Amino acid sequence: MTHRLWLAPMQGYTELLFRDVYAEIFTGIDQAISPFISALPQGRSKEREWNDVLLGANTKMPVIPQIMGNVAEDLTLLANRLYDLGHPVVNLNLGCPFKMVAKKKKGSGMLCFPDELDALLDILCSGMKGRLSIKTRLGRHTRDEFPALVSIYNRYPLEDLTVHPRTGVQMYAGVPDLDFFEAILPEIHHRVIYNGDLWSLPRFRALSTRFPSLSDWMIGRWVIPNPFLPGEIKGLHFDPEEKLALLKRFHDAIYERQVARLDGPGHVTSVMKAFWVYFQDAFEEGARLFKPLRRLSDPVVYEAAVEQIFASRPTVADFNG
Ligand SMILES: Cc1cc2nc3c(=O)[nH]c(=O)nc-3n(C[C@H](O)[C@H](O)[C@H](O)COP(=O)(O)O)c2cc1C
Repeated sequence: MTHRLWLAPMQGYTELLFRDVYAEIFTGIDQAISPFISALPQGRSKEREWNDVLLGANTKMPVIPQIMGNVAEDLTLLANRLYDLGHPVVNLNLGCPFKMVAKKKKGSGMLCFPDELDALLDILCSGMKGRLSIKTRLGRHTRDEFPALVSIYNRYPLEDLTVHPRTGVQMYAGVPDLDFFEAILPEIHHRVIYNGDLWSLPRFRALSTRFPSLSDWMIGRWVIPNPFLPGEIKGLHFDPEEKLALLKRFHDAIYERQVARLDGPGHVTSVMKAFWVYFQDAFEEGARLFKPLRRLSDPVVYEAAVEQIFASRPTVADFNG
């Protein structure tokens, strides 16, 4: 089977700059979903979020815009503005786990109100000029919410359904509930994109063997310390030294473009430190070496620290061991 690989939306990480750099250095990702664009009243949006999905800018990696909100009319207007911009498909965020978002019945916060979700999808799907895809968790509080959600999703002509088999309150803790996902998968009438904890080639092989009907896989956090994975899934092989050199190139390209884009060195180092939350997993002692850097803001100190981490023992080569 030919597998289709999706870059997960990750606000603060997988914006255009990251997608461009990734596509210049690596291969394997077929399609990205953008970090969410908030649907403001009258379908307006924040300029920064809108600019991230402009077609003229997104030439290196195809992107589907993701929208998030709780007012069907605002979501419909935003989806139609995106359609007019050239996006025939938009993705609805029904997964964001954060309390501040969820308590407003946005993201995963909508999953425990199935009747309201149904009414929202009814207005959205009948008012949209283009097609809708959805990214969901199993529920807000418990997976027991999911069967009712599946019967709602099945009633709408969705492009596809991305399932991250955790609940909202679970955040990123614990493990995806694969047994439950396996049991409910035959009930879903849409093309399913699996998402969650896909960190290595052996992990991909285990999941694709367990779920042979799935052709679509979405990778999020692990694409940062293990950017080779999409290529490896597509059959490429990298030597350990090659991996380390490519990882350094990846880091440096992100860093250089952030320096060019952002005002002030403190701003750049703070964005880069966020990347190290995930990059550190590419090094055996990444967590220890990264810890003292949390308070730094001077780029010279940052660059020296990065050199030190890259000189330490990488684990990237072992990911597939
Ligand atoms: C920092 C961060 C930001 C995220 N932003 C979004 C987002 O904007 N939209 C969304 O649907 N999911 C978002 N997610 C969730 C990811 O898309 C994905 O579902 C999750 O990380 C699980 O996949 P993974 O195990 O491959 O990382 C975010 C996750 C993280 C860690």
